[in-house]
Amino acid sequence: MPLFLEGREALDAARRDQFAESGFLVLPGLLPEPLRSRLVPEVDRWVDEGLRARSIAACADPVAHDPPPVLELELPAHGELLTHRPLLRALAELMGPSFVFHHLHSDRQSPGIAGKPWHHDYEPNDRADPSLLMVHALHYLGGLDETVGSLAVLPGSHRDSADKTALVHLGTAELPGEVVIDRLPAGSTVLLNSALFHTRRPAPTGSGHPRYFVDASYCQVGARWRPVKPFWRQMLARARALDLDRGRWPELFADRHFTEYTATG
Ligand SMILES: [Fe+2]
Repeated sequence: MPLFLEGREALDAARRDQFAESGFLVLPGLLPEPLRSRLVPEVDRWVDEGLRARSIAACADPVAHDPPPVLELELPAHGELLTHRPLLRALAELMGPSFVFHHLHSDRQSPGIAGKPWHHDYEPNDRADPSLLMVHALHYLGGLDETVGSLAVLPGSHRDSADKTALVHLGTAELPGEVVIDRLPAGSTVLLNSALFHTRRPAPTGSGHPRYFVDASYCQVGARWRPVKPFWRQMLARARALDLDRGRWPELFADRHFTEYTATG
């Protein structure tokens, strides 16, 4: 199948170049409907049973609060999402074959939720090596349209060395050169270089449907990364126990790629 392989390799190279240049890659409809439709009720459970609130409390004050009794990645469809083969293949195109799962957030955002100011989400590593990639996969389970607001990104801004909050004073304002992603089919994913500045804008109508949003991040191996959840070891141990990588991605849930958690992390 030489023609197929050449075509796929060319596509891979084009996507890799585009991602390196712009800092983002849109993958419409990456998630198949059977997976997407199982994820939605899991997000509902995560929110409605207070698991999300307990997870946030445990991150904010790990002395006073235990981790939730169920972690996001223990919800079966969330576990599948983390290691969805087309997703991991896309990540491998961008980062090479060795990367580690960093963290997962799942949320059902209310209609009319306020925007989130310009920021980036890149976490430091112990080699202070900015060439090591961290990538966020933003999964929009219901897609994006005028009823759930939009994502705006600032292409190329991942190459600037800037604090996460360097642009927060701009709020969600329109910036020169920005790209607005406001229309995606259900089950779409946007891959962001985590150092790319981005903002969440509210729906123009101020009301509409809840936004089902799951984001998962992954880091290139080669340094130890700072964890953001105090119960990160438990999280990785559960992923290994559940064999989420099905033996195919030996670095994906390995503790050795992380520094110890600190309260500022
Ligand atoms: Fe973000």
